[in-house]
Amino acid sequence: MKRILLSVPHMGGSEEGYVHEAFATNWLSTVGPNIVAFEEAFESRFGQPAVALVSCTAAIHLGLRLLGVGPDDKVLCSTLTFVGGCNPVRYLGAEPIFLDSDYATWNLDPNMLEDALRECAMRNKLPRALIVVHLYGQCADMDPIMALCERYGVAVLEDAAESLGSTYKGRPAGSIGEIGVFSFNGNKIITTAGGGMFTSRNESWVEKARFWSQQARDPGMTYEHSEMGYTYRMSNVLAGIGRGQLEVLDQRIKQRRAIAFRYRDAFADLSGITLMPQASYGLNTNWLSCFLIDERGFGSSRDALIRALDEANVEARPVCKPMHLQPLYAGCEHYGGEVAEDLFRRGICLPSSSSLSEEDQLRVINCVRKTAGAEALAILSTTERK
Ligand SMILES: Cc1ncc(COP(=O)(O)O)c(C=O)c1O
Repeated sequence: MKRILLSVPHMGGSEEGYVHEAFATNWLSTVGPNIVAFEEAFESRFGQPAVALVSCTAAIHLGLRLLGVGPDDKVLCSTLTFVGGCNPVRYLGAEPIFLDSDYATWNLDPNMLEDALRECAMRNKLPRALIVVHLYGQCADMDPIMALCERYGVAVLEDAAESLGSTYKGRPAGSIGEIGVFSFNGNKIITTAGGGMFTSRNESWVEKARFWSQQARDPGMTYEHSEMGYTYRMSNVLAGIGRGQLEVLDQRIKQRRAIAFRYRDAFADLSGITLMPQASYGLNTNWLSCFLIDERGFGSSRDALIRALDEANVEARPVCKPMHLQPLYAGCEHYGGEVAEDLFRRGICLPSSSSLSEEDQLRVINCVRKTAGAEALAILSTTERK
């Protein structure tokens, strides 16, 4: 039986044509028509300027530098995230302060943010920035977060690596804070086989990010450099994949959501397994279908369920390990952490590829049902939530 993976690339059809064009026209570098077209398409969908990069981690690095983060600074970060979302804090010699999640969204708890800002202000050492993550396709509750950061004068970088296409009160994830960043890693809702996007309302920041991403070469004939730069620009070949993928983003969102709600419906008669909350303030793309397992109700632990799925040749993963528990960040200051720890201990991500067939999803569902001691289903029903 073939292995069902967590989240795999899903091409729309036109990607190969754009990549072929890059070969045919010999634009095999970090300049070319695909990059221009990809950025233009992104900008017109998103409503603000953007620059395509090699990764989201690179975008965060540039973003934090633009916000003035440097040695001895503090940066507030959601603790429940992927390590690439906060490593750039250390690239710049600064230190993160981790903040707990809220059960209602799994994202940053505004109350933790308030406590942290109040204490930092009392110590006369306000953080330089906040990195707020929008996890698994769902936006954090941005209104209270933005209000607090405005009150204390702290800039907000939205890490929307996992939430391209999500919305908060009608606004796209990544367009609310000073800077927004996205990932096109192979497991994301759309991919360029690896890549990222930096966006900001502030056009001069986008231009500066573009400049730094190309080794910060000063204008003119000679190779003169007055600022530190990086090799962070996306290639024209990969931008071709991005062009094609952006054309099918809305379809991918529909597919990912349908998968999540099919799981939810197929587990509706089971106790101890609940879909990640769907906050009413926006669209959750459900990039990954994540569930919480209550061992007593479900009859099996989360880890036993992952093992059972693995034996059935199905890949499932725990919810991400909070940053304040990582050896890399041992000793870092953190506010709360118990909610993120509980979500990490009980949370499971099930196969969520937009290309997942109903037949394969039924295989996953029936393995979960069997582990819970419930009868197998013969067919799937779908009631996509409006
Ligand atoms: C929340 C989050 N932030 C940042 C990253 C880093 O993205 P990239 O792999 O494109 O550098 C990822 C995942 O890949 C992520 O999930």
